Amino acid sequence: MSKIFKVSEMKPGEVFKLMLSFIAPRPIGWISTISDKGVPNLAPFSFFNMLGNNPATLAFSPAISRDGRKKDTLLNVQQTKCFVHNVVTREVADTMNLSSTEYPYGVSEFEKVGLTALPSALIAAPRVKEALINVECKLMQIVSLGEKPGNGQIVFGEVVAIHIQDESLIVDGVIDSSRVEYLARMGRDEYSSTKDRFSMKSPRE
Ligand SMILES: Cc1cc2nc3c(=O)[nH]c(=O)nc-3n(C[C@H](O)[C@H](O)[C@H](O)COP(=O)(O)O)c2cc1C
Repeated sequence: MSKIFKVSEMKPGEVFKLMLSFIAPRPIGWISTISDKGVPNLAPFSFFNMLGNNPATLAFSPAISRDGRKKDTLLNVQQTKCFVHNVVTREVADTMNLSSTEYPYGVSEFEKVGLTALPSALIAAPRVKEALINVECKLMQIVSLGEKPGNGQIVFGEVVAIHIQDESLIVDGVIDSSRVEYLARMGRDEYSSTKDRFSMKSPRE
């Protein structure tokens, strides 16, 4: 027996939960920003990916909150036009999760969660010392899909600098990913990590 879900007959929250359970695993953008008053902010976003390679482009979507507010991350990116993606590995799973707490605007998750904000090389937003890799991005554009709760606000950033905190992970110019346990988001409260790996040659090669 198969089943069809007709989206027009469902509540948005139901569609959201159903889709999160099969658009998975999703990489997690752990996004640090700074306000124009100099207060840092940090939050995870699994509506996130690399979406262009020339220039190298990252995008993530801080949706409008349940109460209709813009998320702190979006406000900061609008003000200071930059953000850092901090790569999430198994070691920082707990602090990443804690940093999703919805503190009032102007409260730094770095302080609340006990993480260290390091200065970036080329942009104002700080980076997370405890993350293995930090990717500095300059804002390219924001595409707003509306102003109602849940409406996506897609932030596109051009990658301008990449910090690898442990140089020994670099082999032939790229990360030896077999030595890193990346973390990804599944549905509900589930996560997966990259413990088991295999390779498949592309048919084009
Ligand atoms: C793993 C994970 C992924 C998340 N992904 C998103 C997302 O893609 N978009 C979103 O709006 N909120 C997402 N959230 C919730 C935000 O992290 C949360 O609303 C956070 O408080 C936003 O922080 P800010 O207001 O400081 O920007 C996610 C939470 C977790 C734990």
